[in-house]
Amino acid sequence: VSHSGNSCHWISVDSALPGLERHTIIDTETRHMPDIVISGTGLYTPAESISNEELVASFNAYVEQYNAENAAAIETGELPPLQPSSAEFIEKASGIKSRVVMNKEGILDPRRMVPRLPERPNEDQSVMCEMAVAAAAEAMSQAGKPATDIDAVIVAASNMQRAYPAMAVEIQDALGIKGYGFDMNVACSSATFGIQQARDAVAMGSANCVLMVNPEICTGHLNFRDRDSHFIFGDVCTAVIIERAATATAEEQYLIVDSKLQTIYSNNIRNNFGFLNRADESGIGKPDKLFVQEGRKVFKEVCPAVANQISAQLELQGIAPSQLKRLWLHQANLSMNQLISRRVLGRDATAEEAPTILDEYANTSSAGSVIAFHKHRDDFRSGDIGVLCSFGAGYSIGSVILKKR
Ligand code: COA
Repeated sequence: VSHSGNSCHWISVDSALPGLERHTIIDTETRHMPDIVISGTGLYTPAESISNEELVASFNAYVEQYNAENAAAIETGELPPLQPSSAEFIEKASGIKSRVVMNKEGILDPRRMVPRLPERPNEDQSVMCEMAVAAAAEAMSQAGKPATDIDAVIVAASNMQRAYPAMAVEIQDALGIKGYGFDMNVACSSATFGIQQARDAVAMGSANCVLMVNPEICTGHLNFRDRDSHFIFGDVCTAVIIERAATATAEEQYLIVDSKLQTIYSNNIRNNFGFLNRADESGIGKPDKLFVQEGRKVFKEVCPAVANQISAQLELQGIAPSQLKRLWLHQANLSMNQLISRRVLGRDATAEEAPTILDEYANTSSAGSVIAFHKHRDDFRSGDIGVLCSFGAGYSIGSVILKKR
């Protein structure tokens, strides 16, 4: 009936008895959830990257071209001129220095400003599947799990390449995994929510070992003509293996001590792209069919909510902030992460305590905190504790306390 920490409380009701009032509680017990671990992670990094300077040069070429083409309307005040972007602003406001992308040429072409990713025949692997298979291979090798030991695949990402069949089913087939697969989307929090779904599945016995992957092609939903946000996202794929501690054989294992999910409805980050767009032609191609946000409001509202969630969760688990070795935070904005870690720790975090990967990768949506975890845990010893935390559209917040075994 309810989960808390590491135990499930069960109340069995004899439903054969007619009438609600006659239902009798016949058994009450507390069963302990088995220990569940993360036994491997994987990362696929696309080959191409774009520096702030390159991105700004392309954006400014577009601005010049637009202003020249609309000179008459701008002159009469009918249209406002577009303002140029600046690499200094981008780094100062976000901490981003470059982004890794699936296709650089299409994005940087000022007449196009969209990645060029040709459609593939149904018989070929899709782009998202290819990225996921690469990331999964590393996670499976770290965990020492062949496909035959995995029995569920969860694809958790902000955007799916198609409506169906589920990406997870294609990836499952490509890897030769039996069992089941499904897709889920909680925007930037998809990975932490995916870890909890995997943990629940393993705890309840519907799977023994789950592969959870996050293929994020964020440049596909980014409006490269929007000065406020053209610099925000990059592309990447991460993968995580979640299984019972009893079956884990990996050298490195991280016990999932607790995971906490929260969603709070907000219009401040939206993407209205969807299958009903075609039912109102007037909206097709409008900016709200791509990523849009009120960045300042997001910053102001999300930071305290995230810090409060982590602090309350630690308190409930009897873990003092001083016991935390690491905060693997969502990678959207450096100042946001500094503020959140300051609130959680009660002081500024060092670069080791709250590692940054957004300088090189930019915001990779749900994959960001998993990249930080993947790249920054070599110094962990048995008993060390860290928090993997994501936040984003919804709003959504997911925080997972991990302890090295
Ligand atoms: N180049 C130069 N100047 C720019 C610019 C650009 N590309 N984009 C905006 N500016 C200007 C604005 O016009 C504004 O000028 P003004 O003060 O004269 O009006 C100024 O810079 C500040 O703009 P603002 O949008 O308020 O910047 P910001 O400091 O809030 O930073 C973000 C913008 C997006 C980096 C920041 O708000 C952010 O990261 N928020 C959180 C986002 C987030 O986590 N989202 C989750 C997504 S999953």
